Amino acid sequence: MPIDQTAPWRALAAHASAVRQRHLRDLFAADADRFTRFSFRCGDMLLDLSRQRLEDETLRLLLELAGEADVLRWRDRMLAGEKINLTENRAVLHTALRLPESRSLVVEGEDVVPMVHRELRRMGGMVAAIRGGGWTGATGKHFRHVIAIGIGGSDLGPRMAVEALTPFREPGLDIHFVSNVDGADIARAVAACDAATTLVIVASKTFTTQETMTNAVTARDWLKAGLGGASDGWHRHFVGISANPQIPGGFGIPPERVLQFWDWVGGRYSLWSAIGLPIALGIGIDRFHQLLAGAHEMDEHFASAPPAENLPLLMGLAGIWNINFLGHRTLAVLPYDQGLSKLAAYLQQADMESNGKGVDRWGRPVGYDTGPIVFGEPGTNGQHAFYQLLHQGPQPVPADFIVPLGSQYRLDNHHDILVSNALAQAEALMRGRTRDEAAAEMRAAGLSAEQTAALAPHRMFTGNRPSTTLLLPRLDPHHLGMLIALYEHKIFVQGCIWGINSFDQWGVELGKQLAKPILEELTSAGLRHHHDAATSGLIELAKGRDRS
Ligand code: F6P
Repeated sequence: MPIDQTAPWRALAAHASAVRQRHLRDLFAADADRFTRFSFRCGDMLLDLSRQRLEDETLRLLLELAGEADVLRWRDRMLAGEKINLTENRAVLHTALRLPESRSLVVEGEDVVPMVHRELRRMGGMVAAIRGGGWTGATGKHFRHVIAIGIGGSDLGPRMAVEALTPFREPGLDIHFVSNVDGADIARAVAACDAATTLVIVASKTFTTQETMTNAVTARDWLKAGLGGASDGWHRHFVGISANPQIPGGFGIPPERVLQFWDWVGGRYSLWSAIGLPIALGIGIDRFHQLLAGAHEMDEHFASAPPAENLPLLMGLAGIWNINFLGHRTLAVLPYDQGLSKLAAYLQQADMESNGKGVDRWGRPVGYDTGPIVFGEPGTNGQHAFYQLLHQGPQPVPADFIVPLGSQYRLDNHHDILVSNALAQAEALMRGRTRDEAAAEMRAAGLSAEQTAALAPHRMFTGNRPSTTLLLPRLDPHHLGMLIALYEHKIFVQGCIWGINSFDQWGVELGKQLAKPILEELTSAGLRHHHDAATSGLIELAKGRDRS
């Protein structure tokens, strides 16, 4: 039965009508323990849902809904390696990438844990060789630059984590990420590097992605040209990472320079695999293991914490309440840490590629909203850009405030200001400012009665805007691992409630297919394929463009 026809869904809809007018201010005023009762912990991470528009009854009904959708059974099936990605007939086992070596997980007769750790050891060996000079380029020089080529899941995770963990970076190797097929991307990267000391990592699950392969060929040409007489040794400058480890061989990368992962690792869940090589090169393999351990801590919590204390489950359910019962279809990701400047982009893929689906597992159109539109920027920058809409726009936008309490930089006044802003923004969204409060403030500032009356509607805030606050002691590899795994599981929980397959991405195919004939037409005379008038007209204009 579609989830929106079940008794818990109907009960939640009725409950939403009954509580819709209640203001968070009043909920806080009526309950001195609200913060304590709606805050939950995993280790030293705190998830504060008290500023979500939840009441005890809401949570009770949401947990019933989770029961109805069998979320915990789907969780167990995922963790056990069952093929829950039904449309691609695959298991979903990114959690196996962070299992300690002492564990075992037998999938179709094979224990995957030794495979995972074998590859991790190969990766550790590569990091040591690249950093220690055991591997050199074709001219015998040590590597000083890395150009990491990949796109989507083969780019966003490593890019986000390398940036987030900047204070943990080991010196001596700069890392450039190239994803876009726009030549500007690779052109800028190679301009900052010198061929003799550059290592190129080509990361692609399929090793067929157009953008990645185009950039890889350009990088190979650049290396060959730059290496001069040593150009035959270009392959000493390459590492390939793929779930099809024989394909990089076709590109000319020798097997000892190819790292592998597996088809049961989704692209957007792959930073924990060999795709994480740029992270390991940046922070060292030991810290990469800390990142895995942090994610594993969250996995264990997700697998075993009781539902009413389970962070990913509760965070997922709070999102369901906002999206499906309060009608809030967006999610602002607001990390108060400059290191997390790429987090929103990362979560856009994790969330929107996973849950941007309009049919359920059985192919039936869903009659309700699914994945939210995710966007965000680090605070305090975003405050001076789009927060106006968050505070006074007519459509409330639920927000996640992510606040590391400690800073790696010894500039305490900066960090106190940063944290105070995070807490203040969440408070402002919740409380708002009444017309009377706005008027009193203006009167106190000496404005006339006329001015006060005219400006009051502009200076009041409705408040009652839901937000979550996530506190971490600091942004380090372990807590970044916890944070990302928390979001992965939250996304999973929501996909289960909606009854969709969060692990395929057929929606990206059509555009890719249509680009092929258009490319052919752009680069040859005449139109060969039938298009709509707009596409044909634009192709003609693009063909006539200035190529100088
Ligand atoms: O186009 C979407 C996608 O398939 C993503 O899911 C994936 O992360 C990305 O392309 C890159 O794919 P690959 O790792 O195979 O190059």
